[in-house]
This record gives sequence, structure tokens and C-alpha cells, in this order.
Amino acid sequence: MNRSVDSVGGAREKVAFLGAGAVSEALVGGALAGGLDPGAVWVTARSRDHVDALSASHGVRVTTDNAAAASEAGIVVLAVPAAGVAQVLDEIAGRLRDGAVVVSLADGVPLTELEERLPEGVGAARAMPSLTARAGEGLTLLTPGASCSAAQADAAAGLFARSGKVVRVPEDQHAVLGPLSSGGPAYVLYLAEAMIEAGAVRGVPRDLARELVTQVLTGTAAWLRADSREVATLREKVCAPGGAGIRRIAALDRHAVRAAVVSALGDAPPGLSPE
Ligand SMILES: NC(=O)c1ccc[n+]([C@@H]2O[C@H](COP(=O)([O-])OP(=O)(O)OC[C@H]3O[C@@H](n4cnc5c(N)ncnc54)[C@H](OP(=O)(O)O)[C@@H]3O)[C@@H](O)[C@H]2O)c1
Repeated sequence: MNRSVDSVGGAREKVAFLGAGAVSEALVGGALAGGLDPGAVWVTARSRDHVDALSASHGVRVTTDNAAAASEAGIVVLAVPAAGVAQVLDEIAGRLRDGAVVVSLADGVPLTELEERLPEGVGAARAMPSLTARAGEGLTLLTPGASCSAAQADAAAGLFARSGKVVRVPEDQHAVLGPLSSGGPAYVLYLAEAMIEAGAVRGVPRDLARELVTQVLTGTAAWLRADSREVATLREKVCAPGGAGIRRIAALDRHAVRAAVVSALGDAPPGLSPE
């Protein structure tokens, strides 16, 4: 194992993202905007072209050698598909610094499996981030493993906090909360797309419709955050009896939109028993 991580802000602030896909790009962009030094960030991928593109756009250091990048870092973010996690862990395990923390983003790979493949002194954690990190408004579910010291857990939380909110949750909550948090932007963007299309059907240019819809989403989120009354109470303010708003909601109900959302997001994920 490499030399030890002596302080937060020292080696621990050096971060290696293993994998250069959608989630790494969002987290790297958000963390750099949040003050992380690009010179302290390594990013890897299998394809040289993919990491070169990130180097050009973000000024981070890149390589296709996972172990070399991991050996430099106090925080190692495993951002590869779940099927590649075991192989990447085996590649890097012997090169990690004592005191480093390895954070896996892979859905469904348990902490015990990560900890089995990591040497003593290295902490393991699981995180479920959201692509909204790219705009500095991320939301990351974080579960430090039993192998993590308080300092290792805080270092991992500090990285994700550079690009948004961090919520520490028990491991079994990832499958329950992930569809709302990490999956959430997909549903909101789906609604935004449909609203823009509805504007286009009425002859509104798409760029103008997008500008209006974006401000509606931003304003509604700010209102929701600022006003703690029931969500239905807020919606009723926009839906006067007999008015156009309530008739449009009635049209959504005729198409069972609420039931569709509950079914899409609320159905038990595979592997969770209903008891
Ligand atoms: N996307 C999301 O919203 C989201 C949210 C939460 C968690 N996650 C999790 O985060 C992980 C990454 O997701 P993603 O959406 O970013 O995936 P992605 O866009 O498919 O990117 C995966 C990246 O991993 C790289 N990779 C694969 N095997 C590798 C290896 N052996 N060594 C180094 N790099 C390797 C790929 O390299 P190449 O570029 O060379 O192909 C690619 O850059 C997944 O486990 C996913 O479940 C994703």
C-alpha cells in the first residue's frame, strides 16, 4: 500500500474518478465549480478519447491506468458500471494509500462486497449521486461503511457537498430513495419536455417555451422549499374552482398520470420484499 493520508486538505483532497461517463462528468464539473482544484483530480476511462475530452473541457489530469490514478488519491470514486466494480477494485487494491476512502456509485453492489476486496486501513462507502450535480444542485445519498473512520466519512461527504446536498442514509435505503433522488431528474425533464411540446402545439417557439418552463420549474422548486404547507394546498392556489388550472389537472387525472407516476417510482424495486 502507498504512503498514508495525513490530513484533510492533503492527499485526501486529491480525488480519482475511475470512469468518465455521465455521472463522473457531472460530479467533476460540479466539484470544480464548488472550488476543487482541477490539478487535484484524476479521471480514468478505458478509452483514451473519453478522458482526453474531459481533460480538454475541465483541465483535470487523465489516464487509462486506474491503479496509477487511485494511488495518488485520498478519495477514490468508483464510477464504472456495477459489472466492472470487482475487476477495478482488484486492479487498485494493492496501490491504495493507507487512510484513503473508496466510494462506489454502483447501484446494488453492497458495502460488504467492497470491503472484502479492500485492504485494512482503506474505508469503503456507497454513494448515489444525481446528475444535477453538474449545476451545483446535486443530491447524493451517502452510506459510509463500518470500515470508514469519521474522518474518511467526512472527506467523502465533503467531496459530494462541493456540488450539492449530501444526505447520509442506511445502506438499505438506497433502493428505496434512489428512484426519487438519483432518478428524479429524468421524470422532471420528461415533464419539462412534454410542457415544451404542449407550447409548440399552440405555436409557441420551442426556445421561448423552454425559457418559460425552466423558470416555472425553478420558481416552483423555490416556492416548495420556502412554503411548508401540504403540496396539494399549494397546487390548489393555482387551481381555482371552475378555472382552467383545475380543468387541466382533471384532464391529467383522466389519463391516470398520478397513478402512472406512483407506479413508475413506487413499485418495489427488484430484490426488495414487501415485508
Ligand atoms: N447516470 C446516473 O444518473 C447515475 C446516478 C447514480 C449512480 N450511477 C452509477 O454510476 C456508475 C457510472 O454511471 P454512468 O452513468 O456515468 O455510466 P456511463 O456513462 O456508462 O460511463 C461509465 C464509464 O465507466 C468507464 N469504465 C468502464 N469500465 C471501466 C474500467 N474497467 N476502468 C475504467 N473505466 C471504466 C467507461 O469507460 P469508457 O468511457 O472508456 O467506455 C465510462 O467512462 C454506474 O455504476 C451507475 O449505476 C449513475
